[in-house]
Amino acid sequence: MKLKVIGGIVVLLSVLIAACQSDADQEFKRYYTGGAAIYKQKCQNCHGNNGEGLTSLIPPLTDTTFLKKNKNYLACIVRNGINERVLTINSKAYEGPMPANTDLAPIQIAKVLTFVTNSFGNKQGVITVDVVEKDLEGCQ
Ligand code: HEC
Repeated sequence: MKLKVIGGIVVLLSVLIAACQSDADQEFKRYYTGGAAIYKQKCQNCHGNNGEGLTSLIPPLTDTTFLKKNKNYLACIVRNGINERVLTINSKAYEGPMPANTDLAPIQIAKVLTFVTNSFGNKQGVITVDVVEKDLEGCQ
């Protein structure tokens, strides 16, 4: 009898854990696939099919270190563009400006950043719309 109860609890827990995981998986998939479409439309021309960038004009999106270090600044880059006099990535300097994307809503920025930070060799997990909204408040 006791064993049955314990068995029941184990089964119940496994079901609950599986349900939670698939919720998280689904959220990730939703962000990632939406982001892939936005990337194609808004970013791919410059940053390339595989995030490889373009010579010394456009920086690559394959540099996990830069993307991790600037995780909470990425939303500002996408929304407002960036024109650092010299942006150094993988010890290479890039000087061209990136244009702003003022037409992208926070949810679209969250999706495209989830795509970028989980493609091209990156694996950072979901960047949610809540995080993006908070990050955007800190843009200078
Ligand atoms: C017109 C070309 C162009 C488009 C379109 C563009 N970028 Fe950029 N992007 C650049 C350039 C140039 C830089 C470097 C700017 C600098 O040196 O100050 C840059 C820098 C970046 C950076 C920081 C550096 C790095 O390589 O990690 C990120 C992240 C980024 N872009 C993401 C995006 C995303 C996401 C989109 C689409 C929403 C996008 N860009 C659209 C040209 C572009």
